[in-house]
Amino acid sequence: MPIDKTKLPPGPKSKNPFGQLFEFRKDSIAFLTRIAKEYGDIVQFRVGPIRVILVNHPDYIKEVMSTQHANFIKGRPLEMTKKLFGEGLLTSEGDFHKRQSRIIQPAFHRKMIESYSHAMTECTLKMMESWEEGMQLDFREEMIKVSMDMAGRNLFDVDIKKEAPEIIEALEKISGLFERITMPFSEYLIKLPLPSNIRFFKARARLNDTIYRMIDNRRKNPVDNGDLLSLLLIAQEEDPDHMTDQQIRDEAITLFLTAFDTTSNALTWTWYLLSQNPEAEAQLHEELDRVLQGRKPTVADVEQLKYTRMVLGESMRFYPPSYVIARQAVNDFSIDQYTIPGGSLILTSPYLIHHDTRFHKSPEKYDPATWGQHQAETKSKYEYFPFGAGPRSCIGQNFAWMEGVLLLATIAQKWKVKHVPDHPVEFLQLINLRPKYGMLMELESRS
Ligand code: HEM
Repeated sequence: MPIDKTKLPPGPKSKNPFGQLFEFRKDSIAFLTRIAKEYGDIVQFRVGPIRVILVNHPDYIKEVMSTQHANFIKGRPLEMTKKLFGEGLLTSEGDFHKRQSRIIQPAFHRKMIESYSHAMTECTLKMMESWEEGMQLDFREEMIKVSMDMAGRNLFDVDIKKEAPEIIEALEKISGLFERITMPFSEYLIKLPLPSNIRFFKARARLNDTIYRMIDNRRKNPVDNGDLLSLLLIAQEEDPDHMTDQQIRDEAITLFLTAFDTTSNALTWTWYLLSQNPEAEAQLHEELDRVLQGRKPTVADVEQLKYTRMVLGESMRFYPPSYVIARQAVNDFSIDQYTIPGGSLILTSPYLIHHDTRFHKSPEKYDPATWGQHQAETKSKYEYFPFGAGPRSCIGQNFAWMEGVLLLATIAQKWKVKHVPDHPVEFLQLINLRPKYGMLMELESRS
């Protein structure tokens, strides 16, 4: 059926079919902010043959993520990530996804998360063993290593320290390739023998080796401790045709990478934001001194560490690691007064919504207490959605909260973490929002 153009949303036009792509790729947050301001809460633009729709109001985001979710797939935006993740939980669709999700869920039940808490504090303390007064460290790297360590120990029961530098290097190469996701013809570019593609495939092979080694180790020393690897291997025993070795690899690599990539960015931004907001930092220190009285934090303290949680929550409002969440419409659908054709790419942006004065008081001010108040008062969870929403929301969010609160408490109890003033801070907008030049911080002992 021909498209009824009178029912399509407004948006910027360009004679060049890839005109908007250049602006989007250069700074997608700035581009999306501009078009939302100029054209409203539902905006369309084109990237070559692809129709892209920005949906920028909590009510409409709810339609896409929840009410009409069955009409949306991860689709094209995640096609390239499948080159790394395969058909794991993040990328798979439909009944297959539902079934995998049911198998994996128990690794994230409350009791399991609580059981991970001890290793979370221990990994943080271990990282701090080599820290000294006045030391300057790239905190992005520190946060990646410690989050990787926590994911390795808790989800797979392995010590990943030895492999960490190699995994980080492989991931840097892979990130370079992901920059191309938004490029036209990206699916064809990946097939060419370009040096960047060769580097990607080598890096992926190294990551696969690490993951297969974890699986082999567990097979040789079988334990059923309820962690992710146990669940996957039990599922294989019960249904080997469905849970193949390749599928275990896809789920394991998905969980391992998503576990530390997002969390390490959230934590890196948190340290930066605290260093720029001495009042919030002082209030955090006051809470830690009062609640912990010098003890190392445990799961029993988490409930009491209310301000610490607000610090993390406000950081994910201010700089949400997943700053854009995308879907592809399967069939035509209606939203507000518009009819959007099937096949369109739908973008929602936690960053835009979290910085919108209609939904957040003084959004450019970093204030953990205001975040706490907003959470207590607000009715719509689509005003704050760093973990996505609806049936495809983050399976690891409770893991991330536990890890974040315990890590912040363990470090900030002992150290003031100061941003090195001449170190540049800029966004690098890849799959996650991360600091382009790392995050150079200086340590000052609090005792
Ligand atoms: C601060 C930390 C984290 C943030 C901001 C975050 C953010 C997100 C978001 C926005 C989604 C939804 C994506 C979409 O709708 O397309 C998601 C999904 C997912 N996350 Fe997280 N995440 C975090 C931590 C974790 C951790 C610690 C794990 C694992 C231990 C994890 C595993 C996953 C998985 C497997 C999915 C796919 C779920 C599905 O589709 O069923 N994430 N995450």
